[in-house]
Amino acid sequence: MLHPIDEAYRAWSPKSCQMSLRACEVFPGGDTRASAHYDPYPLTMQKGEGCYLYDVDGHKILDFMNNFTSMIHGHGNDKITRAVSEQVALGTAYAAPSEGQIELAELIVSRVASIDQIRFCSSGTEATLMAIRCARACTGKQKIMKMEGGYHGSYELAEVSLIPEPSLRGELDRPNSLAIDGSFPDSVLSDTVVCPFNEPDMAKHLIDEYADELAAVIVEPIMGSMGMIPATKAFLETLKSVTSQHGILLIFDEVISLRLSGGGAQEIFEIEPDLTCMGKIIGGGLPIGAVGGKRQYMQIFDPSNPNKVFHASTFSGNALTMAAGFAAMTLYSASEAKRLNLLGEKLKNGFNQAFQQSGIHGQATGLGSLVNLHFTDRDINDSRDALSGMIDAGHFGRLLHLCMLKRGVMSASRLMFCVSSPMREEEINFAITALHESLAELRPYIKAERPKLLA
Ligand SMILES: Cc1ncc(COP(=O)(O)O)c(C=O)c1O
Repeated sequence: MLHPIDEAYRAWSPKSCQMSLRACEVFPGGDTRASAHYDPYPLTMQKGEGCYLYDVDGHKILDFMNNFTSMIHGHGNDKITRAVSEQVALGTAYAAPSEGQIELAELIVSRVASIDQIRFCSSGTEATLMAIRCARACTGKQKIMKMEGGYHGSYELAEVSLIPEPSLRGELDRPNSLAIDGSFPDSVLSDTVVCPFNEPDMAKHLIDEYADELAAVIVEPIMGSMGMIPATKAFLETLKSVTSQHGILLIFDEVISLRLSGGGAQEIFEIEPDLTCMGKIIGGGLPIGAVGGKRQYMQIFDPSNPNKVFHASTFSGNALTMAAGFAAMTLYSASEAKRLNLLGEKLKNGFNQAFQQSGIHGQATGLGSLVNLHFTDRDINDSRDALSGMIDAGHFGRLLHLCMLKRGVMSASRLMFCVSSPMREEEINFAITALHESLAELRPYIKAERPKLLA
């Protein structure tokens, strides 16, 4: 039997429902991207304008998803549109150097202190992959340490232990390397050392133990996939000091967190990694990735280097993405990053108040313009804490997402929200009101089905 909230969602979005039936014929499960899918079916969008999306049923929806944090200027920004239109007329991809590549690279190098040189690629996935290959080639070692719950793209190593399933994950000080589906070769699991997030002493212990085999430690300064959990400064400082002591490369995955300041999250934490992976916002809404870092490591990509790592990739540095990225990043000044961070903090505080007033256990975590909701008021320091909140919530995370959509507010289905530059206080207040109302709508169902979620 359908839950009444699902029924109401279906009644509210009949054209999206029809569209999903059509999509099911040509896409397995009716979608072409797992992370953007949600049940019972996702809304089909027709267009985006500023911070709003318009779906096929004619709803105007405030977009706090921003294509998973990449649309820093929302949709259809004038300057980006003009830059892209001008470039389209001049050709989109040349397989040759262009000034546009140098301009965007110079802009990033001038802002991110740890980056001397860059390589562009076409996705964040490719950026972390190339960073790992760089680290292996530079150190001659094979294993990679990643955080339990961390996500670095759509390939096996980048997803090891993404979901720390309680019955399989092992002890916190020595987590097991877990496959998240049946596609993982054993070699990937044995090449990956899983580290507990935000546990400096345990991390040091594991790095010391595997020092002779570890090429790199990869970490997000704020763990996105498991619900925007900021790293502590002490944790990142420990990773920095122990890796440099052992000649292991420290890779910051700033595919999401670069937006937190002109110089990325590394500027906020005042810690310089050896390599930085980027993506999302630096493409101005078009597909992109980049790996950057200290010259001594980036030299491994130099075609004249006898020990080079071969990095090709058909759309790397394509002229269209470079034009969009340069326009977007020029617009995204340090003061604009600060303004968005303040709006994000206001959103987080307002969400926390909404949970408190609702009498439902829950909280918002995050940093600056990145926010995530969780159905628990226990402290959230790592992916295990976040997962136990998700398990406690049962299907109420999913239902809350639908309730917010019906009120015209879109987040990721895992309840991740991020702010974009067309937003003002008005949009933040709108989302906070939507959460108050959504929690009030859910409360009777929670009382009946999951009373332990009530305060
Ligand atoms: C932290 C992080 N790294 C890497 C990636 C992969 O980026 P892409 O989806 O562009 O391949 C993502 C994507 O969400 C991400 O959040």
